[in-house]
Amino acid sequence: MRFDELKEQMFSTPETWLLTGCAGFIGSNLLQFLLLHNQKVIGLDNFSTGKISNLEEVKNYVSIGQWENFNLIKGDIRSEETCKLALKGVDRVLHQAALGSVPRSLKDPLTTNQVNITGFLNMLNSSKDQQVKSFVYAASSSTYGDHPGLPKIEDKIGKPLSPYAVTKFVNEIYADVYQKSYGFSATGLRYFNVFGSRQDPDGAYAAVIPKWVSAIIGGEDIFINGDGETSRDFCYIENVVQANILASFASEDAKGEVYNVALGDRTTLNQLFQMLTEILKKHNVGYPKDIIFRDFRAGDVKHSQADISKAKNLLGYSPLFKIKEGLEQSMEWYLNND
Ligand SMILES: NC(=O)c1ccc[n+]([C@@H]2O[C@H](COP(=O)([O-])OP(=O)(O)OC[C@H]3O[C@@H](n4cnc5c(N)ncnc54)[C@H](O)[C@@H]3O)[C@@H](O)[C@H]2O)c1
Repeated sequence: MRFDELKEQMFSTPETWLLTGCAGFIGSNLLQFLLLHNQKVIGLDNFSTGKISNLEEVKNYVSIGQWENFNLIKGDIRSEETCKLALKGVDRVLHQAALGSVPRSLKDPLTTNQVNITGFLNMLNSSKDQQVKSFVYAASSSTYGDHPGLPKIEDKIGKPLSPYAVTKFVNEIYADVYQKSYGFSATGLRYFNVFGSRQDPDGAYAAVIPKWVSAIIGGEDIFINGDGETSRDFCYIENVVQANILASFASEDAKGEVYNVALGDRTTLNQLFQMLTEILKKHNVGYPKDIIFRDFRAGDVKHSQADISKAKNLLGYSPLFKIKEGLEQSMEWYLNND
């Protein structure tokens, strides 16, 4: 498998990566992977949603020598100067920093715009000037907007349903224009509901899986938005790490494209709840206090499922973890970190 070959290659060929958003959920998992594979990493994060504890966990996971390959820059992608500085000597970029969450963007569209569009453009433009070998960025399934088609195919998108979705779509447009105008390829990975260890269970903008796991463990109420038949293509973090590595080393033809990164499956919230309670029962953890159904959330789509054939065919993507396996793997972390 191509991913296994690349892992071997990385061990013997250290390169320097710039990883933005390294203290966040996805970023810290990418950091762990890169360091474990003997890569040098410059991490750029302003800790707006990222946590130093995520970095400490990575430190405990890798060897002392591998940790010494990590350089942290506390800085903001909204500063062009910071981006340029962070890019010095960098071979490859994984751009993950952004303000996530549809509700957050509805509440504060201006900051979301500054970070997700201006920040993105700073990174893209500086990376183009630096002529890095690869630039892979976190796009989003929210770009499908109001398009009713299922499963979602990369070139069939609708109108955005939130300011967040606008920003992620604009990233793709810029990436496309940079390829046409400057011959600089930036590859977008449209993540679909990623989950796994280090995903923050707290706060108003927490994602459903960590929020529910935390509520079940704590014997609190669970809130289901809508009737529970809303469905999502939940994707375990290890699959996302694989996609980032494959995209970084993609052939020239496969670079500069946008890819769905998901499992290619659909799970309703009711099914998800069932799975979580079954898994947690094995850990002797009880039941939530109550299950409360409430209104659908503004900006949310009812169903989401990816067609992942493009990533399979052009990148060699092969998600190794189904939702249940991913949930089982993540549970240990949630039980230890609640
Ligand atoms: N988690 C998902 O399901 C999902 C789905 C689709 C897309 N994405 C995208 O994936 C990326 C990572 O998401 P995540 O879930 O790990 O979120 P996260 O909030 O855990 O991580 C984002 C990181 O970016 C950093 N950051 C934010 N603004 C910054 C700024 N101005 N300068 C420097 N650093 C900044 C944060 O401090 C944080 O460490 C984001 O671009 C997000 O939009 C995530």
